[in-house]
Formats: sequence, C-alpha cells, structure tokens
Amino acid sequence: MGLILIMFTLGFIFIFLHPVRGDLSYTVPEESKRQYVIGHLAKDLGIDGKLLSARKARVETEDSAKRYCDINLSSGNLVVAETIDREELCGSRISCIVNYELVLENPLEVHRISLQIEDVNDNSPVFPNDRISFEITESAHKGERFPLEEAHDLDIGRNAVQGYSLEKNEHFILSVHENADGGKSATLVLEKELDREKQKDMNLILTAFDGGNPPKSGTAVIHVTVLDANDNIPVFSQPVYRVSLAENTPLGTEVITVSATDADEGANGDVTYELSRLSEKSGKLFSLDKITGQIMVSGNIDYEKENFFEVRVQAKDGPGLVSSAKIIIDITDVNDNEPRIILKSLNDPIPENSIAGTEVAIINVQDKDSGDNRHVHCHIQQDVPFKLNPSIKNYFSLITTSMLDREKESDYNITITATDGGSPPLSSSISIHLTVSDVNDNPPVFEQQSYTAYVMENNKPGTSISSVTARDPDWRQNGTVLYSLVPSEINSLPVSSFLSINSDTGVIQAVRSFDYEKFRNFKVQVVARDNGSPPLSSNVTVSVFISDENDNSPQILYPAPEGKSLMTEMVPKAALSGSLVSKVIAVDADSGQNAWLSYQIVKSTDPGLFTIGLHSGEIRAQKDITESDSMKQNLVISVKDNGQPPLSATCSVYLLISDNLAEVPELKDMTFEENNSKLTFYLIIALVSVSTFFLTFIILILAVRFCHRRKPQTVV
Ligand SMILES: *[C@@H]1O[C@H](CO)[C@@H](O)[C@H](O)[C@H]1NC(C)=O
Ligand SMILES: *[C@@H]1O[C@H](CO)[C@@H](O)[C@H](O)[C@H]1NC(C)=O
Ligand SMILES: *[C@@H]1O[C@H](CO)[C@@H](O)[C@H](O)[C@H]1NC(C)=O
Ligand SMILES: *[C@@H]1O[C@H](CO)[C@@H](O)[C@H](O)[C@H]1NC(C)=O
Repeated sequence: MGLILIMFTLGFIFIFLHPVRGDLSYTVPEESKRQYVIGHLAKDLGIDGKLLSARKARVETEDSAKRYCDINLSSGNLVVAETIDREELCGSRISCIVNYELVLENPLEVHRISLQIEDVNDNSPVFPNDRISFEITESAHKGERFPLEEAHDLDIGRNAVQGYSLEKNEHFILSVHENADGGKSATLVLEKELDREKQKDMNLILTAFDGGNPPKSGTAVIHVTVLDANDNIPVFSQPVYRVSLAENTPLGTEVITVSATDADEGANGDVTYELSRLSEKSGKLFSLDKITGQIMVSGNIDYEKENFFEVRVQAKDGPGLVSSAKIIIDITDVNDNEPRIILKSLNDPIPENSIAGTEVAIINVQDKDSGDNRHVHCHIQQDVPFKLNPSIKNYFSLITTSMLDREKESDYNITITATDGGSPPLSSSISIHLTVSDVNDNPPVFEQQSYTAYVMENNKPGTSISSVTARDPDWRQNGTVLYSLVPSEINSLPVSSFLSINSDTGVIQAVRSFDYEKFRNFKVQVVARDNGSPPLSSNVTVSVFISDENDNSPQILYPAPEGKSLMTEMVPKAALSGSLVSKVIAVDADSGQNAWLSYQIVKSTDPGLFTIGLHSGEIRAQKDITESDSMKQNLVISVKDNGQPPLSATCSVYLLISDNLAEVPELKDMTFEENNSKLTFYLIIALVSVSTFFLTFIILILAVRFCHRRKPQTVV
C-alpha cells in the first residue's frame, strides 16, 4: 500500500514536471487507405512539427497488438498505417476503440491516443443457411407463426440488419420484430390456409437488408413442404443461457447442457441440437452433443484473445421445426501471462559525472492479463545506485540516485524484475548492462609525499639519480601521466641545466657534474600531469643531496706556501721539552673524513728535536733545547686528509733557535740575508721549482689516469 502511495506520488511529481500531457482522440472510418490523415497530431499537441522527429516521437502499442496508425514525421499528421477491418478487430461490439501510446523522449512524455473506428457498410446481411425448410401441416390455422432464423450482418448499428422482405405470395406474410439484443428477426405468418392437394410445396425468397447507404442485402430460400399432420415446436428451458468459464479450461470440460422439450410424441418430439451462428474462431472452441445438448470445451480458450462468446443453439424436432436459444459465455481471466519488460531506450555509456537523477533508460512493462493480474509492480534487484521512477502508465524511467565513480565501478548489471498482482504472482526480469564512461576527475598522485635523492659529487652527466612515480586511475589518456620539472632557478641557473626528467618514466638524471664544495643540496619541483582535456596535475618536491668526495687536497694557510716569503719562527734557546714552538694551520675544502687532517714531519734538520701533534699541527720541542743544537732548524711537514685515497700537501717551517734577533746578523735584514745567502736562496728556488715540477707531474699523471678511467665509460 505504502509502495503504491510512493509510486503514485512519484508519478504525480513526474506529471507535475511535464504538464504537456493529455489524451488525444480521433475517429477514423474502417477500410481507410494507408496514409489517410486521421488527425493533425503536432497541432493537437501544440508542438512544432519539426520537433517530433527530434524527440523520437513514436506510436507504441500495448502488448504486441497491431499498429494501425503511425506518425508522418514530415507533416506531423497521424496517418493510417494499415487498413483497418472493424469487424475483424471488434466483432459485434458497438464501440470499437483502439488505444496507443504516443511516446516523446527528452523529456519523456506519454500521451494516450484513442482511435475510434467507425463502421462502414462493407458487409451484407447473411442467413445462416441459404435454404430454410419448413414442414407445415395443412391444418395450420391462419395467423400461425413460424420463426425464421435471424440474418446476421457483421456491421453494426444502422449498417446491421434493419429489416426483411418476403417475395410476394398467396399464403404467407412476414412479421418483423426487434429482439432483446437489438437485432431484428422475422417470423413467417400464415395468411391463407394451405391445401396440400393444391400445392405440395413452395419456395419463397426471403431478403434481409441493412440500413447502410447504399443498403446491402442477403437472401435465403424458404422451402415449405405441406404436411398432413400437426406438430409442436421444441421449447428451450431458458431463452438465454449465461455461463462463465475460466480461460485455459481443459478440453472436454462441460460448459453447459441446454435442453429443449417438444410436446409431440415419437419422432415429432425427438429433439436434436445444433450450434448456429458460430464464428470460425468459436466453432473450434466449443462442441455440442447433438443428442444430449451438452456443450463442451474443444479448444484452447484464451481470455486475451476473446473474453466473451455468444452462440446460438437450435433445437430441431424430427419433422424439422426449430427454435433457438442464446448462450452467452463469459470468459474469466487467469493469471497466465507473465509481465513483459521492454527496454524502450538506453543511454549507454553514461559519463561518471552525471548528476543524481540522470535518466539512463526508459522501460515499459506490459501484462496481457486483466484486473489485478495485470497490475505490475517493478523493482531493481541489486544494491545499485539506480532507481525506477514510475512515469505515466506502465512507463518507468531508470535514473541514477547518486554520482557514479568509474574508478570504483566501471559497469553495472541492473536487473529489473516485474511482478504482477495475480495469485500466484508471475514475474519476469531483464538485465541491463550499463557502462560508465570516464571523465578526467582524478589528478595524478605521487606515491611518496616527497622524494630524496643522493648523488656523489663529480658524477658523470647523465647519471640517473632518482625516479618518481605518480598514479592516475582514470581511463586511457585521462590516466596517462607525464612528468616534467617545474622551471625554477638554482644559484641563478635554470633547473634544466642541473637535472632532466624522463617524461614517461619519471627517471631523474643529472645533466652536469656536481661540486659538493659549491653547493650541497637543492630542491626541485616535479609536476605530474595527465593527458586529459583539461589536464589535471600535482607536484612533489625532490630534495637532491650531493655527497662529498675527496677531491680537494689540504690547503696550508700557515706558514704561507714556499716561495712567496720566508717565514721564520724564533725558538727561545731555553725552550724546554714539550714547549709549543709553532703551529701549522691547514684546511681542507672537503668535509668529514675527507677534511680530517693529520700532520707529520717528513724531514727535519735535526730529527728527534721537534714533534708535531698528529691532528693539532702544533710543533713542540721533543727535548730540552741545548747549545749544541744547530741554530737553524728546517722542518718539512706533510698534511694529509683521511679520504680514500688520501690527499696531502707539504710545507716547510724554518725555526731559528735564538733569544735575540740581533744574535743572528744574517737575519737582521731580509735583503741582507738575501745578499749574503744567495746560495741558500737559489737552493730554495731550486727546491721550490723541483717541488712545483713534481706536483705538476703528479697532477698530470693523475689527470692522464683520470682521463683513461673515464674515456671507455664515455664511449659506452
Ligand atoms: C508525409 O506527409 C508529406 C506532406 O503531407 C507527404 O509529402 C509525404 O509523402 C508523407 N510521407 C509518406 C511516407 O507518405
Ligand atoms: C555483468 O554481466 C556480464 C555478463 O553476464 C559479466 O561479464 C560482467 O562481469 C557483469 N558485470 C558486473 C559488474 O557484475
Ligand atoms: C576523458 O575525460 C573526458 C572528460 O573529462 C571525456 O570527455 C573523455 O571521453 C575521457 N576519455 C576517455 C578515453 O575516456
Ligand atoms: C604545487 O602544488 C601546490 C599544492 O598542491 C600548489 O599550491 C602549487 O601551485 C603547485 N605548484 C605548481 C608549480 O604546480
């Protein structure tokens, strides 16, 4: 009940949304030719004729009935699609109406078209038998009546039988009267007594005519045989028998037994039965036992084909006097037709960003049964984001109830089940396969929040240092990720001169060789962009750390490198063991172990007199200085870092053991010393030259080795 209420409410809402809705009725004469214009559909709907075709206007039949009319989309007219035979369609029913549905899409609109078929006088009256025989005794009195079989005209109303006429003759006249069912029947009335001796038999032409314009007629011959004896007419127990019969009743089931009695005795009173005025259809469905009057089912009775039969039964006695009765058989419906679901239109695929309430499909449900048996209820089986919106009559629109997400569910199988209200109910279902099409609604997402890359300095250009990956669940190009570097500057150079990224793989390569001593780290932004239109993107920070390599020799700051100026330290004569004499100060541009320096005396004038702190570089007296020690002391000190391999530098320290500068006349003045010890000076120059030459040589060798090591790799 609640459901019906909801459906009703939804239906109401739908109607409210589409106020252009109304029933259209037209009248069309039967037998009209194809393309006969029934009505001006577009005009009656108030729609521009051109819109009809855009809105897929069509005429839908209920069940699988024939479609007699159609829309001429170019003129907007409702025209005859197939010639209609009213008699075949509606038989004896007075009103012959066929109903169709006019469906317009976008938005869905359903109008009922009812087409009233007008009768045309295209059938003549026909007698059941074209020869009617009577056996009448000569003793029959004037005014005696002999009922005649009724002529039948398939047309209706004025086009049905309107009267009878009888060929002019001496003995009989015709009395015409109206039946309870509106038909006309005639009775032969004896006007002048018969005389068997004068005339044994006679033939009279009976004509039935209808009221059409022009009228049509049919004839039968009445053959009268004049008899000697007197008879009674058989009389039925009821003038009209009425039964109701369920459809699908098994063959051989009794429908009814009629009985007529004849007051005469012997052969004159023996009654036999016969069905008359049976259509070809009903003739196959019922059979009559001539003797017992029992009517039985002899064919498949289908309510959906025919829900009502009217048959006439005749009782005839031995000599041939007949009377008739009517049998009305009402067929009752049985729930023997399952509902049918018809998919009228389907929007497949549906974009994932369609808003809730988007119409996906239009379905129509039909049930050929009647009453509750055709009352169909529809529902969706699975838990899917779709629902059925009842529309007009048996139309439903399938709409979405929420946004769809192709990345979660890319297709749906929607099973719609229709159940009728019969007992037991019948149901049927269809499955609609719906695909969700992609919309570029997901940006690429990096697998990590940020990336860190480490690279040794002096790397070869082209070395891969890291790789980033971003995923995009969208479809095809909407999910194809391309990587690029966000333009920026590092030390006022464009980032592209430092790094490059493979746009497809996300592999980051160094473009140049890095120098740890210039900068130790930098950050770049990598953007991942999909190929959609418009594209979506996201970015991530990649921090690049450059690791140190031992590529810098220690640099001696004090004493100043040889050759520039000679620095001499004064050592007091009374310096005791352990006293600080001087300090070598060196630095290394590298860092860590590569910059951890150690000092060593490699050569001295008086070995054992001075010692140097391994890591402090402090030169101390190793023992007490004595007079015997030489006044000028020369130390060659090597400074070595802790790298792998280590690099080193050397320097010379000149010490002068003296308390007073005046004690050393040669050193009073630099120029003096220079003049006086030219030899020493030249020696020093020679030493420096040799050292420089040696150092250059070492560098050269290193350079050559470095080139050798590098070349093959560059070739590869
Ligand atoms: C539809 O109507 C137009 C205009 O009245 C006519 O020319 C055309 O023949 C009709 N179409 C058909 C299929 O008969
Ligand atoms: C829908 O049905 C088809 C065929 O029966 C099947 O291949 C498909 O996997 C089904 N899809 C879903 C989402 O259940
Ligand atoms: C990608 O998304 C757009 C809308 O954003 C859509 O029109 C297009 O069809 C999608 N492409 C594919 C291959 O699904
Ligand atoms: C990087 O992403 C942030 C937030 O996700 C955004 O604000 C910024 O504009 C993006 N930068 C570029 C260059 O795309």
